[in-house]
Amino acid sequence: MDLRAGRFDGQMTDDAAKFSTSINDDKRLFYADIKCNRAHTTMLMEEGIIPEDSAKKILNALEQLEKEGINALDLSSKFEDIHMSLEDYVTNLIGPEAGFMHTAKSRNDQVCTDIRITLKDEIQDTILKIKSFIATIVEMAKENTHTLFIAYTHLQHAQPTTFAHHLMAYANELRRDCERLMDTYKRVDINPLGSAALTTTGFPINRDRTTELLGFSKTMDNSIDGVSSRDFAAEAVFDYAMLSTTLGKIADEIVIWSSYEFGMIECSNQYSSTSSIMPQKKNPDIAELSRGKSTIAYGELMTILAMIKGIPHSYNRDLQEVTPHLWNAIDNTNEILGIVHGMLSTITINKDRTEELAGANFATATELADVMVRNKKLPFRTAHKIVGRIVSDAVAEGINTNNIDNDYVNKVSMEVMGEPIDLGEELVRQALDPLKNVKSRTVKGGCAPIAVEESIKIMEEFLNNE
Ligand code: ARG
Repeated sequence: MDLRAGRFDGQMTDDAAKFSTSINDDKRLFYADIKCNRAHTTMLMEEGIIPEDSAKKILNALEQLEKEGINALDLSSKFEDIHMSLEDYVTNLIGPEAGFMHTAKSRNDQVCTDIRITLKDEIQDTILKIKSFIATIVEMAKENTHTLFIAYTHLQHAQPTTFAHHLMAYANELRRDCERLMDTYKRVDINPLGSAALTTTGFPINRDRTTELLGFSKTMDNSIDGVSSRDFAAEAVFDYAMLSTTLGKIADEIVIWSSYEFGMIECSNQYSSTSSIMPQKKNPDIAELSRGKSTIAYGELMTILAMIKGIPHSYNRDLQEVTPHLWNAIDNTNEILGIVHGMLSTITINKDRTEELAGANFATATELADVMVRNKKLPFRTAHKIVGRIVSDAVAEGINTNNIDNDYVNKVSMEVMGEPIDLGEELVRQALDPLKNVKSRTVKGGCAPIAVEESIKIMEEFLNNE
């Protein structure tokens, strides 16, 4: 039965009906739509706006639908959306009294209420997933506070660190991704129901009651804003896009670190594949795909922003198109999250190689300059100059870090400032030792095991308390 026959009886062409239905993407709103109708009907009954008998029949029908599940609905493109299909189900079951359900309600407020209810669950689910990933990273970090690692800037050897220190950078980024979603949640958790088409209704509805029944923390203040706004969706998609970025960057490092040239980690076979022609290959396909797919949410964000920019207040049908992009950003990011979590937790770290790299290629040069400042009260810029010259001489002579001793340092300091700095063998050796470098960086946020342990503690408090 066409629930809206009246205004005109003409039929849409099949392709126009197919073009305009949102029923496929609305499937995700099924339980939210039942909840929404239940809360609205209960409130209408409580306020004496609709007959109690009819309300009870509607509520029973909704309960039956919930038990039967989504397949009890007609999901063909015969219906414009799930709201019409649900109303049709109730009408078939109880007859014309079903029509009371739509008193003082429009699909305009219904759809955005449903999206908000569903999105709240999605956000909570993703927060749990992120926290579980952070917990895994923290466990890995605990085991690697003394595992030497090389840190890069410009993808050039920079300074030695530990694997735990690098892992805790991931954990902190993910924590912010998590907190961002928690913050967005507050703006999703506001109830637009009761806005009706756009100006509310002349019926004495109790909006705060449906807010309570639906478990929202606030009622939306303006009904035009209620049906128009999708900023909450754009904001959530930004959060997912940002989370995707974090995950894509982790995936990117897995690709780089597992190459023969870096050789720092090995990806587990479960997350690798081989080549159809080169029998020796072990390719990090899953990491590459995570990196590639991490861009999808950006596209969804741009699409949503462009859609909501291009329309006047209040409800415009364009808004229907926002919803599938919201779900796609969420699904895609959640999938990457699961994959990157699994992949990172199953890598093997090649400690011999990371230790070798941590001390190689003059990565400890900053500390040698620092020792000159600390022990000989040399201005840092002068020390920087001497050490810079030491490195360029050593590179020209084909000497590596291990061959730099007190005499070598003195020879260069004579050239640069006319006198030997004379740090002594022990200080030079210690300055160039990657483990000593790492252990000296005890300041908050630093790579010393003691500092990383502190950072792990802070992260554990976050995981346990929020
Ligand atoms: N399917 C629509 C959407 O997702 C529901 C609201 C339709 N309202 C309307 N007046 N046609 O936005």
